Amino acid sequence: MSKPDNEEPAEEDVYAACTSAPLSSYKLHHAASVRDVSSYWSKLATAKLEWFSPFPSGSALTGALEDGSASWFSGGRLNVCHNAVDRYCSSPYDRGNETAILWEGDEPTSVVRVTYDELRKEVCRVANALVRCGVRRGDVVTLYMPMVPELAMTMLACARIGAVHSVIFAGFSADAIADRIHDAGSMWVVTASAGSRGGRSLPLKSICDAAIGKERCAGIVKKVLVFDGRGEGGDAWEGIEGVHVRFTPLVASMRPACPCEWMDAEDPLFILYTSGSTGKPKGQSGRPERGGVCDRDETTLARIGRRRYALFAMVTTANSFGLAQQTGPSDPNAPHKDVYACVADAGWITGHTYIVYGPLLNGLSTLMFESTPVYPDCGRYWDMVQRHKITVFYTAPTAIRSLMRFGDDPPKRYDLSSLRVLGTVGEPINPAAWKWYYDVIGNGRCSVVDTYWQTETGGHVITNLPGITPMKPGSCTLPCYGIDLAVLDATTGKEITSSPAEGVLAIRQPWPGMARTCLGDHQRYLAVYMKPYPGYYFTGDGCRRDSDGYIWITGRVDDVLNVSGHRIGTAEVESALVAHEAVAQAAVVGIPHEIKGQGICCYATLVEGYPETDILIKELFLQVRTHIGPFATPDMIIINGALPMTRSGKIMRRILRKIASSELDTIGDTSTLSDPLVVDELILKVAKFQ
Ligand code: WTA
Repeated sequence: MSKPDNEEPAEEDVYAACTSAPLSSYKLHHAASVRDVSSYWSKLATAKLEWFSPFPSGSALTGALEDGSASWFSGGRLNVCHNAVDRYCSSPYDRGNETAILWEGDEPTSVVRVTYDELRKEVCRVANALVRCGVRRGDVVTLYMPMVPELAMTMLACARIGAVHSVIFAGFSADAIADRIHDAGSMWVVTASAGSRGGRSLPLKSICDAAIGKERCAGIVKKVLVFDGRGEGGDAWEGIEGVHVRFTPLVASMRPACPCEWMDAEDPLFILYTSGSTGKPKGQSGRPERGGVCDRDETTLARIGRRRYALFAMVTTANSFGLAQQTGPSDPNAPHKDVYACVADAGWITGHTYIVYGPLLNGLSTLMFESTPVYPDCGRYWDMVQRHKITVFYTAPTAIRSLMRFGDDPPKRYDLSSLRVLGTVGEPINPAAWKWYYDVIGNGRCSVVDTYWQTETGGHVITNLPGITPMKPGSCTLPCYGIDLAVLDATTGKEITSSPAEGVLAIRQPWPGMARTCLGDHQRYLAVYMKPYPGYYFTGDGCRRDSDGYIWITGRVDDVLNVSGHRIGTAEVESALVAHEAVAQAAVVGIPHEIKGQGICCYATLVEGYPETDILIKELFLQVRTHIGPFATPDMIIINGALPMTRSGKIMRRILRKIASSELDTIGDTSTLSDPLVVDELILKVAKFQ
């Protein structure tokens, strides 16, 4: 992780939350919520969502965590799009004229407001156009789109007609898209001719075309539906007759009304790919044809989100950002007080839950941001806060750390007084970045919510609550309502009930946001999450719990890296490298990185006869970018004649990690290695690289 400054702060570093409600009320409420999770979530499901037919009373939760059969509200039928859009257009909410989506394009001057009424009509048009093209209930629709309102509209249109969306982050390469289309058997792909980011054009349609041109997609994709880009000349693109559909004019020609499909709460809503651990002991899946070059499988797994996830998205958005008292169905006539901005990308779970579903399910106005924090300059976020009077601002520690480098002056040029809550997500935040966010951005007035969660959890599972939980910089604090957290001894699997404690983080009872399976591989799902510690959902994260019960995430304990808040499996990068003909063996480890939290260090050995040249190294960097995407670009690639292996032939990643991080004094015993001299060779090479 970023620095060893994730340490418990001194007493004076405990910050009071910015409004006052006693922590004891949280504790009582939380204890009650986990005493009977079924009844807790069932009451909320009835109160917060509109159902076409209710789930049978008394059986909100059935099945068990152990075998992955836990299901929520099964038998109840609802439509997520109806709950997120339609209901706010009519009585008792009557928010049809209020802003649903506030789009800020790449250029600060390109701002578009979409009201709830307009959103309903547009979503219906997109839904009708999808149906016209042949999409049916249960079909998987792949979305490879820029951060434009059409992306949210298409997600909601899928939800409306019972299709399953699979959004692929626009930074992924053609190879990665092809894998995902193939895995999901997705017959439909929605893209845009181009997007823009940081003043540069993103050729999304061409990347999609390259993906569907790959052999593994042949015969799968029926149609590519192409929105015109929002910039000038966005409609100037060529397509293949019968494959590409000009989607913008087709959508415009559709009727602005489309009935909702009423879906079971357990029907899939979306597929989202993310890196995971292999779930099998390392070294068991050799690739014999290359002499065991990569000793693990690729680890990208598709998690399936169910329709009942809507409840979790809605409730956690309201609680974690302190909306509960301000808006929402409990007080339908309360005026909107919040302008909510999550500046993530909708291609990740943060965008799904906290840009699209969570805010809209609460009837909020949500910002969609197409650009980067430094375009046209490093004041972009703060300029947006001032212009739109943003009240809730949610970003990642990496962004905060990178903006901190520019000093306090850029934010001080803007009026940030509208801010009420500042959120962070995706990785541990180091106390120095936390304090900068709190002092310079929040002017010491705002709650900083450090939200811990995962793609698999669907929404926040640990966070402080604004105005309620006293904050400690660097700690995500206490579990959310309805989340029954446990800290387990990593070796024995026994629960540690006393505090302080150190162990791995687990969850004891199901919750409605949880993913139920991995696409096409339920056994893998069980192996990764349910089997490591029977009776618990295993997060893959290590943690400490301090004497106040506060949780401090210490980072992944499996083979997953967290680079700028993006999850990247070390095995994915290794597979990309060994796919190059010159690479015989690859091993990838994480290294501390000041801005990104973690960086990627790759070690490789070459096939006989391939010399180590600068050109080859450049090719290997490119290899990872094209196989996965630019966000996975390695920080170092070290080539050597051999890697440290045990005598039984297992690569010693622990030692590689120490060498890469220059933690040479804790390398430990190397005498069991088949060739201990390799360690000295690697130490020299890493030192040269740095
Ligand atoms: C890490 C992102 C510390 C953690 C929402 C987790 C965090 C992984 C935090 C999930 C946080 C996320 N503090 N670590 N507040 N939030 N993580 O699936 O290691 O992309 O397991 O979901 O990010 O990453 P994912």
